[in-house]
Amino acid sequence: MLSESSRQIIEETLPDMQERIRRITPAFYDEMLTEREDLLDGMFSRVDQVVGTQPQALAGSITFFASYVLNHPGSSPDEILTRVAHKHASLGVPAEEYVTVYQFLFKAIEKEFGEEYTPEFRDAWTEIYWMMADALIRIERSLYDSQANDQVNAPFTLVKKEQKADKIFDLVFEPADDTPLSDIKAGQYLSVIVKTKDGLRQPRQYVALPCGLNQRRIAVELDRTGEISPILTGLQVGDTVEISNPYGDLTLEKTVTDGFSPLYVFTQGIGIAPALAFAHQLALEHAARDIIFVHADESLRTWAYREELEEATGKLPRGKLISFLQASGEGDFTGSINMKKLEITPRSFAYVCGPVDFKQTVRSGLIANGVPGKNIQFETFGSDPYMHTATRRTMHRRY
Ligand SMILES: Cc1cc2nc3c(=O)[nH]c(=O)nc-3n(C[C@H](O)[C@H](O)[C@H](O)COP(=O)(O)OP(=O)(O)OC[C@H]3O[C@@H](n4cnc5c(N)ncnc54)[C@H](O)[C@@H]3O)c2cc1C
Ligand code: HEM
Repeated sequence: MLSESSRQIIEETLPDMQERIRRITPAFYDEMLTEREDLLDGMFSRVDQVVGTQPQALAGSITFFASYVLNHPGSSPDEILTRVAHKHASLGVPAEEYVTVYQFLFKAIEKEFGEEYTPEFRDAWTEIYWMMADALIRIERSLYDSQANDQVNAPFTLVKKEQKADKIFDLVFEPADDTPLSDIKAGQYLSVIVKTKDGLRQPRQYVALPCGLNQRRIAVELDRTGEISPILTGLQVGDTVEISNPYGDLTLEKTVTDGFSPLYVFTQGIGIAPALAFAHQLALEHAARDIIFVHADESLRTWAYREELEEATGKLPRGKLISFLQASGEGDFTGSINMKKLEITPRSFAYVCGPVDFKQTVRSGLIANGVPGKNIQFETFGSDPYMHTATRRTMHRRY
């Protein structure tokens, strides 16, 4: 719990911090990653630093946390902390590096605030930092402990590669050593690390697709302007990458909320990946759950994994698949998602995975039909800027 003296200072300085933290975090990352270049090796994405998504996420999360603690004394924003902890764990963030981040962050804060950086100011914000850091360290420790091995990443060999649509490739890997594999919950992701042309190991996250017991399978959409997806989609059978244990808290289990049904899974493009994982899992469990997959795409040609999702949905006694395709006459409906064509009720639960405009359209359509905001979950395929509320997850990166 935040001490009374710190509370007053945080209350007074939060608006200023909110305004200035956007300048502080890029400066802090610049200095930290210059002095600690090793952190770029397999942990931080160098592209995220240039584009600014990661500095913005950290900045947003700290001021969000501070304002949450002020408004909800004695509790903490678990949803954000858990999400960040899963991301950290997938990248193998070690507890001891929280001191490193603290030192570089507070050096940058001191530089920005100048004379206003008094000992009282420093102590109050230090208290906020360590409340957050301690919570993250605790969750990350339990996530590491829950795995079948104590490795951050293990080597895997590509055993199968299949093009599923214009720019979407299905990659299947098998272990290249004897590291035991952890079980995957439907909806979780893996961090995959490859070596770039200049030899730097760089990670990206990919939803874990259903696969054989001793395998890992992912769907990668090629972004020609990106750094890692061109390398991954250019891999050949026999090539080796590193893959983390599975992480991610937005799993099928999390979509079970007493009394709320059916579960709508809205996806667009490569956002279909978690839908596949959900459908296979429910089929495996012979679940009699009401579930409606709603997929949006350009055409049958761009729609990856259509047959696989149709087949898995076909095994669900109360499962349905509805498509909205732009190409005339190719889907169940032509054009973009239209809520009027679906029977949305206020008791529906929704999981949404797709680009930002898709997410916004689906969200406002659901809200207009009376679905409570807390019943709408979003999977983001990028860092969340955390500038909004705890339940609002923003996909801001094109994918
Ligand atoms: C939880 C999670 C799950 C995911 N699951 C999947 C999945 O199942 N399948 C999938 O395909 N993807 C998934 N992603 C996205 C994936 O992790 C990668 O972000 C994606 O493959 C793009 O990576 P990249 O290295 O090719 O692009 P990056 O190199 O990361 O670049 C991202 C974008 O930044 C732009 N950019 C690069 N450099 C600059 C610069 N200097 N200035 C301005 N802009 C720049 C690029 O144009 C590009 O569009 C997931 C992400 C998350 C967080
Ligand atoms: C209290 C301290 C910290 C806070 C508040 C924090 C916050 C965040 C947030 C909000 C994200 C984005 C998560 C998302 O994708 O949605 C993130 C990602 C990340 N964090 Fe932290 N973090 C902290 C400490 C650390 C430490 C100690 C390290 C390791 C040195 C670290 C390494 C990373 C990395 C590598 C990413 C992913 C970045 C990327 O994709 O480029 N963080 N962190």
